[in-house]
Amino acid sequence: MNDVSQFSAGISVLEITYILASVLFIMGLKMLSHPLTARRGNILAAIGMIMAILATILFHRKDGMQIGNIGWIILAIVIGTAIGWVIAKRVKMTAMPQLVSFFNGMGGAAAALISIMEFPHVSQELIARTGMANGHVLAILLGLVIGTVSWAGSMIAFGKLDGWIGDLRVRAMKYVNLTIMAVIIGFVVYIMTRDVQASAELMPLVIILFVIAVAYGVLFVMPIGGADMPVVISLLNSFTGVAAAMGGFLYNNQAMLTGGILVGSAGTILTILMCRAMNRSLLNVIIGVFGGGGQAAESAGGAIKEITVSDAAVLLSYSKKVVVVPGYGLAVAQAQHICHELDKLLDEKGVEVKYAIHPVAGRMPGHMNVLMAEADVPYEQLVESDEINPDLPNTDVIVVIGANDVVNPAAEDDPSSPIYGMPIVKARDARNIIVMKRGMGKGYAAIENMLFFNDKTRMLFGDAKSTLQALVNEVKAL
Ligand code: TAP
Repeated sequence: MNDVSQFSAGISVLEITYILASVLFIMGLKMLSHPLTARRGNILAAIGMIMAILATILFHRKDGMQIGNIGWIILAIVIGTAIGWVIAKRVKMTAMPQLVSFFNGMGGAAAALISIMEFPHVSQELIARTGMANGHVLAILLGLVIGTVSWAGSMIAFGKLDGWIGDLRVRAMKYVNLTIMAVIIGFVVYIMTRDVQASAELMPLVIILFVIAVAYGVLFVMPIGGADMPVVISLLNSFTGVAAAMGGFLYNNQAMLTGGILVGSAGTILTILMCRAMNRSLLNVIIGVFGGGGQAAESAGGAIKEITVSDAAVLLSYSKKVVVVPGYGLAVAQAQHICHELDKLLDEKGVEVKYAIHPVAGRMPGHMNVLMAEADVPYEQLVESDEINPDLPNTDVIVVIGANDVVNPAAEDDPSSPIYGMPIVKARDARNIIVMKRGMGKGYAAIENMLFFNDKTRMLFGDAKSTLQALVNEVKAL
């Protein structure tokens, strides 16, 4: 009797905690949508996760028994937390995308491991208890396939973002990937139609399915290069969410299910928005087909012109409308504060200054919004690139700071370019163009940018922070 009451009391505390944790996840996600509340949102969601983990350790019961191996579980949590803490503390802001990709991959791997561990335990008795029949096996197999693809794909994305894995572009890749996808579906259907009592004997097939999913994860991310990585990272993120939700379904764990569904749906929405922003189709992302396929013109013709800091200061101070295009280089140089100082100085001189925010400028979604918010640039000054583009012909000076791909006209002019079709900030429409960068280095897509050779363009070479500091001093002295 005593056992039964403890059992039911334990379950109810567990369920209430899971519901509370789910509410915290949802509130946290909502708050993440605004820079001012994002930090608190993150903390709320983390509290929800801690509650769910503690409640599972303390109150979860199976056949009246508490979870075993608690010592090992706590040791693993301590080691994992210590490693995660050190990595997160040390990572440079500009290396965040790699880190996010790596952590996302770990989530996918965890979901895949759950499936591999649980498959041999599938039995008639378990199916009778959960009442899910084939649904149970399907949840395991989907968790395995999606989690594995997410893990393998994220590791490749991590290597690419970190610069030690290049692109592998083979014409037939899309057919190879479509074939692998068909083989995966065939395997899932075959395993599901076998006798569930023989689940342990089907393990070799499950392992083969795992290997094929690894191959798919690697092959569908390998060809993606140019400016398209953000879309694939967001897609992989949604995969991990769906794989985790499969685990929640399997264990009848509401917190895991809600968390997984939230990550899966938020990631899917972000992927669709990114696809739209980049003018790509979702199907092409899933089978790893991107861009124009060829290499863009490597040899740029024409000469470049430079501008001195004092000439740039004069040009800016006597303009009516100035648009700043911040990019990855601004983030690397940590020049956001000094950039805002310049725009305040120009504002005092009666110059209207706006920022053109491109959806994939920098290295993570919303990177430029976060960067400019950090420097307290008012939101009204930040304008999405497709909104500001029609205004650029009336703009006196466009100042491109550490941005490259997001202003590259090859996206409009060169069908063979890997970034062809991607919407850009149409910097060349402005009356004058100043480009601030250290030298003639290429952007993420590693292609030449004809904007730098445009007649209206003048280059202001140097590290963004020191150049902006010099510019601020000149503008003050005018
Ligand atoms: P990029 O095309 O990467 O160009 C950045 C430029 O900044 C480089 O050409 C570099 O030229 C310059 N730079 C570097 N350090 C600098 C410094 N200290 N001071 C001044 N300039 C510096 O940047 P973007 O225009 O922002 O485009 C982003 C690219 O990354 C896109 O291709 C996008 O698809 C990709 N990407 C985006 C994301 C997300 S979600 N945003 C994620 C992954 C990849 P120098 O070397 O000559 O200085």
